[in-house]
Amino acid sequence: MIFDTHAHYDDEQFDADRNVLLCSMAEHGVGTIVNVSASYSSCERVVNMAQEYPFMYAAVGVHPDEVGALNEESFARMKELFKRNKVVAVGEIGLDYYWDNESHELQKEWFIRQLELARELTLPVLIHSRDAAADTMEIMKKYAQGLEGIIHCYSYSKEMAKEYVKMGFYIGVGGVVTFKNARKLKETVEVIPLESIVLETDCPYLAPTPYRGKRNNSAYIRYVAEEIARLKGISYEEVVEQTEKNAKQLYKISS
Ligand code: NI
Repeated sequence: MIFDTHAHYDDEQFDADRNVLLCSMAEHGVGTIVNVSASYSSCERVVNMAQEYPFMYAAVGVHPDEVGALNEESFARMKELFKRNKVVAVGEIGLDYYWDNESHELQKEWFIRQLELARELTLPVLIHSRDAAADTMEIMKKYAQGLEGIIHCYSYSKEMAKEYVKMGFYIGVGGVVTFKNARKLKETVEVIPLESIVLETDCPYLAPTPYRGKRNNSAYIRYVAEEIARLKGISYEEVVEQTEKNAKQLYKISS
């Protein structure tokens, strides 16, 4: 079944129909979802949701746009959440020079601190990186050796994707791959092995064609898997099966 490795179901865009939508996932072929925190305030929410839904797991971490909320005290409180059940990764963490919400120095500092936290907890990391290819790679080379994880919503070159794959990371592919103008990502999918790809929505954002611009949800991952199958000249079933296997291996989910 489909494994959505990166979703944000605590987002207010799901307030009106969250439970109905999540309860319909199985009938759309979605078997597992990792609910990822982005802001400091969403960390506890995603962990609570994972206790509520048997097919849902949680990732705890603070997005680069939001690291202004972190200090020693809030970071210590965030760390406490890893004692709860079903917290399977540190994320999403990284650098975002597109929105540039926080200074590069502050983004780097908390990116590194959260990579070190993942090492301490022996958990995989979910990396967010936008318009910050070189700085991200530099920090990953220095602080993420031996760690595992996903380069989420991958948007850089195929050469850099190969480098991340060599370092043992998975490439997260979502709705963008279905966009007509996503030439770079389509090329990346063609050249990296299916064994290094995982599926993701980043919902409510980045809905695939034919829902581009609308609210995304895990059922739409079907269109992402179909496009990967087309690009690689393999079956839809093979894409779903192998990416599920990859994700379960990374997150250490056995069921
Ligand atoms: Ni995200």
